[in-house]
Amino acid sequence: MKLLFFFISFLLLLESCVGANDTIMRRQSLRDGDVIFSQGNRFAFGFFSLGDSNLRYVGIWYAQISEQTVIWVANRDRPVNDTSGLVVFSSRGNLCLYASSNETELLWSTNVSDKISEPTARLSDLGNLLVLDPLTGRALWESFDHPTDTFVPFMRLGFTRKDGLDRFLTSWRSPVDPGLGNYTLRMERGGFPQTMMYDREKPLWRGGSWTGQRWSGIPEKTLKSIFNISFVNNQYEVSNTYGVLDDSVMTRVVLREVGSLQRFTWNAREKRWIGLRPNPQEQCDGYAYCGPNGYCDPLSRDTLECRCLPGYVPKTPEDWNSRDPSGGCTRRDDTASTCRGRQVFVKLERVKIPDTSGASVDMNVTLKECKQKCLSNCSCVAYASAYYESEGGGPTGCLTWHGDMLDTRTYLSSGQDFYVRVDKEELARWNRDGSSRKRRLTLILISLIAAVMLLTVMLFCFVKKRQKSNRHRRSTTTTFATSYVDFGDSLRFEEQLQDKARNRELPLFELTTIAEATDNFSLHNKLGAGGFGSVYKGVLENGMEIAVKRLSTNSGQGMVEFKNEVKLISKLQHRNLVRILGCCVEPEEKMLIYEYLPNKSLDYFIFHEEHRAVLDWPKRIDIIRGVARGVLYLHHDSRLRIIHRDLKASNVLLDNEMIPKISDFGMARIFGGDQIEGSTKRVVGTYGYMSPEYAMDGQFSIKSDVYSFGVLMLEIITGKKNNCCYDEFSNLLGHIWDRWEKGEVTEIIDKLMDAKSYDEREVIKCIHTGLLCVQENASDRVDMSTVVLMLGHNNAIDLPSPKHPAFTTGRRIESNDGGSSSGAWLSGENGNSINDVTLTTILGR
Ligand SMILES: *[C@@H]1O[C@H](CO)[C@@H](O)[C@H](O)[C@H]1NC(C)=O
Ligand SMILES: *[C@@H]1O[C@H](CO)[C@@H](O)[C@H](O)[C@H]1NC(C)=O
Ligand SMILES: *[C@@H]1O[C@H](CO)[C@@H](O)[C@H](O)[C@H]1NC(C)=O
Ligand SMILES: *[C@@H]1O[C@H](CO)[C@@H](O)[C@H](O)[C@H]1NC(C)=O
Ligand SMILES: *[C@@H]1O[C@H](CO)[C@@H](O)[C@H](O)[C@H]1NC(C)=O
Ligand SMILES: *[C@@H]1O[C@H](CO)[C@@H](O)[C@H](O)[C@H]1NC(C)=O
Ligand SMILES: *[C@@H]1O[C@H](CO)[C@@H](O)[C@H](O)[C@H]1NC(C)=O
Ligand SMILES: *[C@@H]1O[C@H](CO)[C@@H](O)[C@H](O)[C@H]1NC(C)=O
Repeated sequence: MKLLFFFISFLLLLESCVGANDTIMRRQSLRDGDVIFSQGNRFAFGFFSLGDSNLRYVGIWYAQISEQTVIWVANRDRPVNDTSGLVVFSSRGNLCLYASSNETELLWSTNVSDKISEPTARLSDLGNLLVLDPLTGRALWESFDHPTDTFVPFMRLGFTRKDGLDRFLTSWRSPVDPGLGNYTLRMERGGFPQTMMYDREKPLWRGGSWTGQRWSGIPEKTLKSIFNISFVNNQYEVSNTYGVLDDSVMTRVVLREVGSLQRFTWNAREKRWIGLRPNPQEQCDGYAYCGPNGYCDPLSRDTLECRCLPGYVPKTPEDWNSRDPSGGCTRRDDTASTCRGRQVFVKLERVKIPDTSGASVDMNVTLKECKQKCLSNCSCVAYASAYYESEGGGPTGCLTWHGDMLDTRTYLSSGQDFYVRVDKEELARWNRDGSSRKRRLTLILISLIAAVMLLTVMLFCFVKKRQKSNRHRRSTTTTFATSYVDFGDSLRFEEQLQDKARNRELPLFELTTIAEATDNFSLHNKLGAGGFGSVYKGVLENGMEIAVKRLSTNSGQGMVEFKNEVKLISKLQHRNLVRILGCCVEPEEKMLIYEYLPNKSLDYFIFHEEHRAVLDWPKRIDIIRGVARGVLYLHHDSRLRIIHRDLKASNVLLDNEMIPKISDFGMARIFGGDQIEGSTKRVVGTYGYMSPEYAMDGQFSIKSDVYSFGVLMLEIITGKKNNCCYDEFSNLLGHIWDRWEKGEVTEIIDKLMDAKSYDEREVIKCIHTGLLCVQENASDRVDMSTVVLMLGHNNAIDLPSPKHPAFTTGRRIESNDGGSSSGAWLSGENGNSINDVTLTTILGR
């Protein structure tokens, strides 16, 4: 009996002490070193230190990321000096942090006034720590109601109207001190709700009001495909929250200790946070930079970006002219305020509307009624719609301003319409200013149109002539195996792309998305350039990094290759081929969007002494096998038979695990099912990689790719370029053949390769295979399936003896019409020497 009682009380004890891993129970405590994890293991709660400091804080961080990323801190200003800290429930049911285990010095508490008898604390998978009353299941306290500097999905910022709860962000003091910093970001109560960033008491930047699509102070739209933002303004609360539609996306918005608001998104592949553009972004964003009734126009051609709103003049012209706009502008006369004369409105476009804290709001009014409302009230100086871009479409709601208008600016592309009240005289004055500008513009336009018309006529004649000669040329090259599928004019091409997008073959990106991702194609993001145009690096809003190949508008050849590449690569999918994510086709822009590969191209490694040393034999053979599998896929395994025609080191990109990816399908050709050979008069390829029959006669087949692959493989083993370093009549292949015949082939193995990393017999087998690929006679060369077999781990395969390689053909290629295409497109290097340029030769017969 006694024993049973003991057993039961033991069980009870056990239950009260050991909860699930995501909870702290009533009589349980959390000591320094203990951590609880949320159910899905996304977040952790426990003690941590920052930087080199020994101070201990209690907080929540991402559990699956090696880089310490704290989203919430309990004892911001009162760290524990040592590891004696203790988190327990007090007798009133508050969760408390004590500095030492004897529970004397209280550093932090949830401070809920209601007494709870059996509280539990649970960390949710959203990163929210909740104190629950298990009897009712009600949350009495949650960390989401007490934000620190981080705004994570499903958290709410804003205030409740009833109980005065205000959720706002406060920056840390420094990256290693989570104490209360100088900056706060909060939702403002007065007038029409808006977000505002303060430096202590001083307004620093206005995030502005919610317009239905974006915040009026943030020009970029938030991608609806990734985030769903909701803004609530009712009799209970004003709040803002956002969700992520794909919950594998980890994202957070941080009010940083330098006074900027920035979104970060985790890039899982590179294992780092990618930060988007922080706000405020520029001088015009500074709160009331142009003073009352002024507005900031970044396009202004004057030295000062500030201008006065219509009907206003600089208050103190001396200051204004000496570039101190803070005094702002004042009414030219007071007719408007006394309602004399006929009243009208000037419409300004792309505006960040003025501070709404003093504005009157009426959500139940259309824009037309809003105008009447403003006209009928003499103190009204301007109006605008409240929700400019509402779900239903048009603008709704009415904002009117009475008195000074603060913090107005214009944007280049986003922004809303804003109507300023003036009298007729003022309107005429404004129009005169505007129209002199307009007249100038019209003049420029007319001359432009004339020039364009002239050009069009000239172009038309030129094209007609060109077409004739083209037709002529095509008729002499009927041996074309399968040519580029003719997309016809570019309009039809665009239609076909739209089709592809609809069929989910190839997603279409919007130009604005790509422009945003690449910072408007900034020089800073440029990775390289070639005959076709340029390649930029970009980051999508979800943190994914991309490489954007942007066709230059005047690249005629580039257009042919662009179409060819789109058509081909969207059908191909293989671990060893570069993945295309989509394209962007607008009347003036043609772009291909690829996955971004951080490790540059193979030539960056193998032709550079320092970089090459990184590649030991296991890495090199893995790369060789990867490329081989990629080519095999092209030749035999994909739905189509594809000849790449420009295999070379710079067209092999490496991802961060050094997995090779074949790129650049601009030259590739598709063969029909059983076709194995074709020929062309336009020989394209790269000096040193072209097989003799292709370089001399324009004959190409899978065997010409095998030749290029063989050269590439021997270059990887030797670390030398085929077309360099040897005398006039020989090249790397000749040199290797010489040593092979003399039985001294081990001499050619790259000396920089750690001799311990390889088995000599295996390397020799690879050289042997390489020689079988580069034999002079195409029919002697092995095919890719045999190559893959030979490169396999099976040592029992008997290799035939190689015949004489083709190694004195390169010099036959003489002309180069400049159709260059750097293979380092996606790789970040633009260092292609003349030898590495893809040649285009029209063969004369
Ligand atoms: C707690 O976590 C550990 C390891 O993290 C796990 O082995 C154990 O099953 C978990 N217990 C509960 C109750 O979830
Ligand atoms: C931590 O140490 C500082 C001085 O080193 C002292 O002023 C402070 O009271 C200590 N705090 C705690 C919680 O022990
Ligand atoms: C509690 O611990 C602190 C140091 O850890 C000590 O100075 C203090 O005397 C202790 N108080 C009690 C009541 O034991
Ligand atoms: C708890 O809240 C009360 C008011 O609600 C406040 O006066 C007190 O300072 C708070 N205590 C702590 C430890 O935050
Ligand atoms: C906050 O502002 C004050 C006054 O300008 C300054 O002395 C202090 O260093 C600032 N604190 C931080 C954390 O920037
Ligand atoms: C976002 O959308 C999902 C479903 O599409 C919904 O469950 C979630 O509540 C939404 N989040 C917000 C913040 O609106
Ligand atoms: C909005 O307007 C409609 C009709 O115009 C009216 O029925 C409704 O009561 C108004 N709502 C508010 C909150 O004024
Ligand atoms: C004009 O608008 C202001 C602000 O909304 C208001 O206080 C005032 O009563 C209005 N005047 C008239 C005549 O409607």
